[in-house]
Amino acid sequence: MRLLVSVMLLGLVAAPAFAAESDAQADKDAANIFNSTCGWCHQGGGRVAGGIGPKLMNSERDDAFILNRIRAGKEGKMPAFGGSLNDAQIQALLRYIRNLKPEN
Ligand code: HEC
Repeated sequence: MRLLVSVMLLGLVAAPAFAAESDAQADKDAANIFNSTCGWCHQGGGRVAGGIGPKLMNSERDDAFILNRIRAGKEGKMPAFGGSLNDAQIQALLRYIRNLKPEN
């Protein structure tokens, strides 16, 4: 019984730390996902126009639009990623896009 209680307490202490760490990890993962999954259409890591997809840096679209575009794609233009990426990954991709800065 005492063991059970301490396991439960450990869980309470560990949970927020774990969430913070997985957020930072998600940000790192987002850059990797972008490069491997989005980068061949959105050039320069999303910074420049001229690829198959438009430039994403400094987008004037709102968060809901961007999240929806990543989840649902656009027929004939961009594949939908709602089936292959989870919500945390899609949120991290939104942060990645919002944080894009010119490379030089
Ligand atoms: C096969 C090429 C392709 C891939 C892969 C792709 N996109 Fe796109 N994306 C496009 C095209 C083309 C558009 C423009 C669609 C349109 O005409 O509205 C677009 C539009 C967008 C937009 C909306 C931009 C705007 O201002 O309208 C976002 C955000 C976006 N893509 C993010 C992503 C992310 C994130 C990924 C990777 C998970 C990704 N795209 C993968 C081709 C692609």
